[in-house]
Amino acid sequence: MYSRITGTGSYLPEKILDNHDLEKMLDTSDEWIRDRTGIKKRHVVVDGETTCDLAEKSARNAMEMAGKTADDIDLIIVATTTPDRIFPSTACLLQQRLDIHGCTAFDIQAVCTGFVYALGVADKFIRSGSHKCALVVGAETLSRILDWTDRTTCVLFGDGAGAVIVETSEAPGILSTHLHADGQYENLLTVPAGVSSGYDKLLAGEAYVQMRGNEVFKMAVNTLGRIVDETLEANNMKKSDIDWLVPHQANIRIIKATAKKLKMHMDHVVVTVDEHGNTSAASIPLAFDVAVREERIKPGETVMMEAFGGGFTWGSVLLKL
Ligand code: UT7
Repeated sequence: MYSRITGTGSYLPEKILDNHDLEKMLDTSDEWIRDRTGIKKRHVVVDGETTCDLAEKSARNAMEMAGKTADDIDLIIVATTTPDRIFPSTACLLQQRLDIHGCTAFDIQAVCTGFVYALGVADKFIRSGSHKCALVVGAETLSRILDWTDRTTCVLFGDGAGAVIVETSEAPGILSTHLHADGQYENLLTVPAGVSSGYDKLLAGEAYVQMRGNEVFKMAVNTLGRIVDETLEANNMKKSDIDWLVPHQANIRIIKATAKKLKMHMDHVVVTVDEHGNTSAASIPLAFDVAVREERIKPGETVMMEAFGGGFTWGSVLLKL
């Protein structure tokens, strides 16, 4: 038995900050941001708009595409680093919004690799036979944990949500998932505050993303190169067997390095980093939904998703649409 994606959805908050807006706030330039990252603009939430709001809209879009109602969903997984509350989980809040009651619902925290982790977990639940129809969401309001005076981080991120419906299938859908982490790199990309340490920073609204960008960059390029090899080997596939790469959208230079490793033309790489910035756990499902709705990725094609993020965490999913 396999699991297969049968619907996709996404949502971006209406407010847009482009690089020229940032030029007015910081010592930065459109040229630097485009050259170093590929980002032109990003969407950000307004006061009162939350991760669950974005998750709900993306989830409804995915359910509509898959033709599913609340009664069909028996598993909800939300990948997020920016939950609405300490608890209940954003998955429980989303469950209530969607008027779904009693099914399994929980959050996953693997930062930018969160959606890949969530898809990996959903696949295992479905293959085990315990669940039949999962709603898997990546949703973030990273703008809430950015220091808007720190040009080395705040220009990079954006807010958004993406979702998929994953169902039981006799035909192959998700072929394999590969999930990794190494906590020895905890301080290279972090928000050094939390409930049981640095709670004062949380209360003061000073819990911000800190990143040693250059070191993260090098690790990301090397690690994503390795995960590509691991994924192909596990499936006994060649580089040329992959039709589409849907990478985490952190930096166009990292994306191009992975595409090069796969000997893949950029026409077959889904790129949204220019329009969305880095939306952490939301970036892959957002990009995937864009490409599916534009009918670029077609039924039966083979797709590799890959991500790298804080932890460090990294992983991949190989699937047939
Ligand atoms: O999603 C999770 C994974 N995250 C990532 O994969 C992000 C990985 N890292 C990166 O994408 C890149 O390292 C960055 C885009 C964050 C930075 O690019 P870089 O080429 O590694 O630049 P750098 O950090 O080495 O900085 C180069 C220069 C510095 O100036 P000096 O010291 O050479 O005078 C920075 O101060 O660029 C300066 N700089 C900026 N200048 C204008 C840094 N940020 C900015 C900025 N505007 N926003």
